[in-house]
Amino acid sequence: MPRILHLSDLHFGRERPDLVAALLAQARHLAPDLVAISGDLTQRARRRELAAARRFVDALPPPVLVVPGNHDIPGVTPRRLLTPWRRWRRVFPDGFEPVLQGADFTVVGANSVRVGGPYLDWSRGRLDEAQVERLARRLEASAPADLRVLVLHHPLLLTDAGRHRGLVGGAALALRRLARAGLDLALGGHVHLPYAGRVNGVVVAHAGTSVSDRLVGAANGFNLLHADRARIVVEHWRAADDGRFVPDGRSSFPRRMRREAGND
Ligand SMILES: [Fe+2]
Ligand SMILES: [Fe+2]
Repeated sequence: MPRILHLSDLHFGRERPDLVAALLAQARHLAPDLVAISGDLTQRARRRELAAARRFVDALPPPVLVVPGNHDIPGVTPRRLLTPWRRWRRVFPDGFEPVLQGADFTVVGANSVRVGGPYLDWSRGRLDEAQVERLARRLEASAPADLRVLVLHHPLLLTDAGRHRGLVGGAALALRRLARAGLDLALGGHVHLPYAGRVNGVVVAHAGTSVSDRLVGAANGFNLLHADRARIVVEHWRAADDGRFVPDGRSSFPRRMRREAGND
């Protein structure tokens, strides 16, 4: 059954080279079925940051699924309004709403980044109704026994420590619809804190910043997810003082029975 290595908020431009090397070595050693990266690969979508992020992704054991974060478009410049995604698309042409089909899992990526909106916090993201419907249909098209996974940058769940960030816009609607589509697991970042919980039956797991110096109260780290027919396990790993990554606690969630279409 699938093992997924979940990295987030790499923030190339603010990366620690020693952690980048340690993470690549650890990723190869873990040999997961999939590496998922939940956005903020760069600090400000500069060309050299995107190029460094691309080199890192290419050095990971494939397959790798990537979605963007709010730091992967330019800051408050004309470019943000006129061509926000040009650089990103050039470097990650598949990194918008990628879908990855494994032997026993289906993973869909969502772009939750928005250029702006009627709010003060420009880092906020959103899932639109049409987008959620598209994602739900992709999940519903997967094999009944597949683990169904969503990867997005912004949070569908927050803990007390992360409440200053705000949930992704449209979170309630998205969780309702995607739970109905049999979503098992959502992987996110943005908050730079590792945690996991359950909403509407969906396990939501967040990874901290994997390799950047933008720490907000938790060490650098990543998550390793395992699933079998009975449970989904979220294993948190953190960077130890010697720069190596070590396991640092886990949460286990019973896997729920899939509700078949028309059953709800
Ligand atoms: Fe971030
Ligand atoms: Fe972010």
